[in-house]
Amino acid sequence: MKLGILTEEKDWVTCELERTMKEFNINPVYILPSRISSYIGMDTKFEYDKEDILDLDGIFVRNLGDPTHYYRFDVLKYIGEYIPIINPAEALENAGNKYKTSSLMDIHRIPHPKTLITEDIDKAVMWSEKFKDCVLKPIFGNRGKNISRLKNKSLISKLNILNEFKRKYGVIYMQEFIDTPGEEYRDIRAFVIGDEVVSAMYRISDDWITNIHQKGRSKECEITEEIRELAIKAKNAVGLLYGGVDIMECKEGGLKVIEVNGAPSWEALSRVSNVDISKLLVEYILENFLK
Ligand SMILES: Nc1ncnc2c1ncn2[C@@H]1O[C@H](COP(=O)(O)OP(=O)(O)O)[C@@H](O)[C@H]1O
Ligand SMILES: [Mg+2]
Repeated sequence: MKLGILTEEKDWVTCELERTMKEFNINPVYILPSRISSYIGMDTKFEYDKEDILDLDGIFVRNLGDPTHYYRFDVLKYIGEYIPIINPAEALENAGNKYKTSSLMDIHRIPHPKTLITEDIDKAVMWSEKFKDCVLKPIFGNRGKNISRLKNKSLISKLNILNEFKRKYGVIYMQEFIDTPGEEYRDIRAFVIGDEVVSAMYRISDDWITNIHQKGRSKECEITEEIRELAIKAKNAVGLLYGGVDIMECKEGGLKVIEVNGAPSWEALSRVSNVDISKLLVEYILENFLK
């Protein structure tokens, strides 16, 4: 059995997968997204260098590269007509685009911070005043990069920041800031496989951006019924088979989903949890897609 690992680079996750797949007698085949060619109306449909992609039993998508290479999602969707793609391209598009995720949270009535998207600077300024404290995020961002907070800023500096943001990213995605209880900043990352939350951690930081790739520290988090229900609902709303759901605890009570990740790492989670996520994930793929 051969399973492709689609990635721009090898990292902890791909190495873990590679090791675990071999334990299950699955042969891992690394595929660089930029090396896939797709042919329409010809004998071979998809090639990776000289290999026929449809000889694989499925593809695990780790890292599709620059999300503005839209065609890669389209090629992946087309490949998905023939072999299983984990996670499916549509779901990766939903998760990779923060506005799509926000709208899906709303459609599925999943608690989510108040959010707006606009190219109109006047509207953005008006809402930044109404929210008082809010964050700006690039729609296609990750790892806590390039997000900023508009707190205690003068009108003129807000105007400058918003104009600069629009110039850089084309559109403004603005979200109310969620105040969390406690001295430090923290949020929850819940890891969902199929219909199960297999593990969860707090990400704690003295900075408001709690990503592990910034200054966040991980600590095991008990999976309460509320976390379980919310994480599974959010992961399913986006259409993922497995995923990492970012959840914030609100000071005034209740939880809000801020983001759903379609290709989450479980490196930090593995340091604080005894659950063998790599094994559970490969077992899940094997049982559901590679029978
Ligand atoms: N609305 C918000 N209120 C408070 N903190 C936030 C908010 N949105 C994001 N954060 C903080 O920033 C981090 C990164 O935001 P997120 O939306 O998950 O983007 P990324 O894709 O970069 O991880 C979150 O984990 C959280 O710590
Ligand atoms: Mg996040």
